[in-house]
Amino acid sequence: MARRKKMDRKGSDRLVGIVGLGYVGLPLAREFCKGGARVLGFDINADTVTAINKGISPIKHIPNKTMAEMVHSARFHATDDMSQLSKPDAILICVPTPLTRNREPDLKYVESTCRAISQHLRKGQLVVLESTTYPGTTREVVLPMLEQSGLKVERDFFLAYSPEREDPGNREFRTATIPKVIGGCGRQSLAKALEVYGYAIETLVPVDSCEVAEASKILENTYRCINIALVNELKMLFDRMGIDVWEVIRAASTKPFGFTPFYPGPGLGGHCIPIDPFYLTWKARQYGLPTRFIELAGQINTRMPEYVVHRTADALNQKEKSLKESKILVLGLAYKPDIDDVRESPSLELIELLRAKGANVEYNDPYIPQTHKQRQHDLRMKSKKLSSTMLAGYDVVLIATNHSDYDYDWIVKHARLVVDTRNATANVRAGRSKIVKA
Ligand SMILES: NC(=O)c1ccc[n+]([C@@H]2O[C@H](COP(=O)([O-])OP(=O)(O)OC[C@H]3O[C@@H](n4cnc5c(N)ncnc54)[C@H](O)[C@@H]3O)[C@@H](O)[C@H]2O)c1
Repeated sequence: MARRKKMDRKGSDRLVGIVGLGYVGLPLAREFCKGGARVLGFDINADTVTAINKGISPIKHIPNKTMAEMVHSARFHATDDMSQLSKPDAILICVPTPLTRNREPDLKYVESTCRAISQHLRKGQLVVLESTTYPGTTREVVLPMLEQSGLKVERDFFLAYSPEREDPGNREFRTATIPKVIGGCGRQSLAKALEVYGYAIETLVPVDSCEVAEASKILENTYRCINIALVNELKMLFDRMGIDVWEVIRAASTKPFGFTPFYPGPGLGGHCIPIDPFYLTWKARQYGLPTRFIELAGQINTRMPEYVVHRTADALNQKEKSLKESKILVLGLAYKPDIDDVRESPSLELIELLRAKGANVEYNDPYIPQTHKQRQHDLRMKSKKLSSTMLAGYDVVLIATNHSDYDYDWIVKHARLVVDTRNATANVRAGRSKIVKA
C-alpha cells in the first residue's frame, strides 16, 4: 500500500543529471537548483544546449531570466557530451516517448539514452526513468540495458521510475508542489530515489514497485482521455437536442461531491493524453485483453476535428456560402491555452481538413510565430497579426485555443462569423448572433 510521505527540503551539493531538456526536464532542473543541488543537463540537440548555456530558454514557461539565473548561479550547466554521464550522483531520464506510425510505443529515445548511460554507468549511481510509458518498461527494457555495463541493480547501482506530472501553463501548481509518485526496482533503489527527490519536491509518494508507478501515470492520463471523450460525445448529442453542453457542465459542477468537470474541445492535443493510453493498449495485447474504453475514447476524440469542420460548413451554409474558397482564420495553434506547445494539437488537423475542403486557411497564435514539422503535419505557415480590419476580412474566425490574451469582445465585434470550439466567448454579450459553438 502506498504511503504518503512529506520530505524536508534540505540543500545538498549533490550533482543531479537530467537527460532531455524540454518541457519536463527544464522545470525539474530549476527545482533541483532551487533545492540546493547542482544540475548537469544532457540533450542530444546541440542548438538547445548552446542556447540554454547562453541563458536562452527553449520553452515559454521558463523565462530567459530564470534560465540565465540558473546558468549564472553555476548550479546548472547543459551539455551534449554523454561521456559526462558518469559524473552525476543521480540521472533522471526525461526524453520523449511518442508513438510510431502504427500507434505503437516508440521507445527509441529511452533506449538510446539507456545505451549512453550504460557506457558510463558507475557504482553508486541512481537512474530514474520519468518519461511516460507502459507498466514494465523500467524492469523489462531499461534494467537489462543498464546491466550490460556489468553492474548489478540494487548492488552496484539503483533504478526507479517516477512519472512526470508537469502541467505547463498551470498557475496553481508547479513542479515542486505536485506530489511525486516513486517506485523502485528494489528497496534500496526506492530509498535512494526518495532521498534525491527530497531536495526538489515537497511531497513524495512512495509506491510498492516501478510497475505501480508506471501504471499510475497511465491511469491518470487514460482517465482524462476517457472523460474528455465522454463530454465530446455529449457535446455532439446535446447540440442536436438544442442544449448547450457547457451550460450542462456548469450546472453539474455545482454538485459538491462525486462529479469532476471535463470540457469538450476541437479534439485532443498534447504529448500525453492522445498518446499515453495507447502505450497501455499495446501492452494489454500481450496479455490477450482488449482495452475497449481506451479504443472508444480514441475514436471519439480523433473524430472531433471533423465534427468542427461540419459545424463550420453548416454555419457558412446558413450564410449561403460554401467551405470551398472561404477564408478562415484559426485562432490558437497550441493544444491548450497560454502555452507554446503544438504537439498533437487538434488545430493542425483542423487546418488540414479545412484545406482539403478547399478553404483558404490562416492562423494566429501569440505564442507560435510559425509552424515547424510535426509527427503528422508540416503546415509551413506563419502567424498572422491580428487587427480589426484583418478579422473582418475572414468569412469565419474559428476559435481553436482559448488563450487568455485574446480579447474575445473585440474579436466577436469585428469578425463576420465566429465558430467557438472552447466556449471562449461565454462572457461576450454583444454580437452573440454571430457566434456558433462547435
Ligand atoms: N510536456 C508535458 O507536459 C509532459 C507532462 C508529463 C509527462 N511528460 C512526459 O515526459 C517525457 C518528456 O516530454 P517533454 O514534453 O519534456 O519532451 P520534449 O520534447 O519537450 O523534450 C525532450 C528533450 O529530450 C531530448 N532528447 C531526445 N532524445 C535524447 C537522448 N537520447 N539524449 C538526450 N536528450 C534527448 C530532445 O532533444 C528534447 O530536448 C515524455 O515521456 C512525456 O510523455 C510530458
